[in-house]
Amino acid sequence: MQRHLITGGAGFLGSHLCDRLVERGEDVLCVDNFFTGDKRNVAHLLGNSRFELLRHDVTFPLYVEVDRIFNLACPASPVHYQHDPVQTTKTSVHGAINMLGLAKRVKARILQASTSEVYGDPEIHPQPEAYWGRVNPIGFRSCYDEGKRCAETLFFDYFRQHRLEIKVVRIFNTYGPRMHPNDGRVVSNFIVQALRGEDITIYGDGTQTRSFCYVDDLIEAMLRMMDTPADFTGPLNIGNPGEFTMIELAERVMSLVGGRSKLEFRPLPADDPRQRQPDISLAKQAIQWEPKVALDDGLRETVSYFKTLLSK
Ligand SMILES: NC(=O)c1ccc[n+]([C@@H]2O[C@H](COP(=O)([O-])OP(=O)(O)OC[C@H]3O[C@@H](n4cnc5c(N)ncnc54)[C@H](O)[C@@H]3O)[C@@H](O)[C@H]2O)c1
Repeated sequence: MQRHLITGGAGFLGSHLCDRLVERGEDVLCVDNFFTGDKRNVAHLLGNSRFELLRHDVTFPLYVEVDRIFNLACPASPVHYQHDPVQTTKTSVHGAINMLGLAKRVKARILQASTSEVYGDPEIHPQPEAYWGRVNPIGFRSCYDEGKRCAETLFFDYFRQHRLEIKVVRIFNTYGPRMHPNDGRVVSNFIVQALRGEDITIYGDGTQTRSFCYVDDLIEAMLRMMDTPADFTGPLNIGNPGEFTMIELAERVMSLVGGRSKLEFRPLPADDPRQRQPDISLAKQAIQWEPKVALDDGLRETVSYFKTLLSK
């Protein structure tokens, strides 16, 4: 049995990861400062003797005995990471340094939740791991994008310099139950607006595309990545290559929710990438993984979660 530390464990992805590990009968220490995470996401695990919850900010060092670290702490949506951009960079960079330092001390294997944002506004489509990206270093999104890029650098330097067992996954847009209702991410935005009977906001002309991975598929990939042989570091793209325009997504949400919402178009925010789609060839080969959940099925689960949440 392994002892796992999950930073950002009370957030959207982190809480699903806690669920899966506890289900597997493993020990989980969930660490979170509750900036965007919520105790309610893990409340159902609190009575379980395999599960512990600790309020802690990863920009400060942490001393605990663990075998594996999943480093997820970092606000993931633009509204939240732009709220305090300096803290966002600190969370990615100081957080990575603190968690890598811990991994080195206790000889733990460590996985970094990186992001497709490291590719910026890409010239190559879909994006393979070998692509270095096209990122603005001084824009409003840079605190997140460059923070995550620097965290990747630190992971690979600890790997080369200190022979740490590292794993880096680059996560593409993921959605599902426990997303934050006000985080401005497109799936939660559309669903919440449709459920409230409000018009659905589309930035730009709505022809820009995104790919959407359901949370269960994503967590499966993260767990498989953590179990890969010691010399496999990644970076590894994980996401769903199925591509949809914003207008298509809005129409699917409206057909699931019903109601009378209309589309409302607004100007595109700065540095918003036109297209983003993972090349998952490496994931197929290295972890024998590809997403299984169809968009409509994932959206149905997510709509049902938000319906309950909004009715409370
Ligand atoms: N969801 C996605 O589509 C997506 C895509 C790419 C990358 N990621 C990455 O996956 C990770 C989890 O994302 P998520 O969607 O679950 O977001 P989230 O905001 O729900 O979760 C992040 C968690 O980290 C916590 N946190 C933030 N700063 C912290 C700090 N300084 N110390 C301790 N905890 C802190 C938050 O309270 C929250 O619980 C993030 O690192 C994010 O960058 C997510």
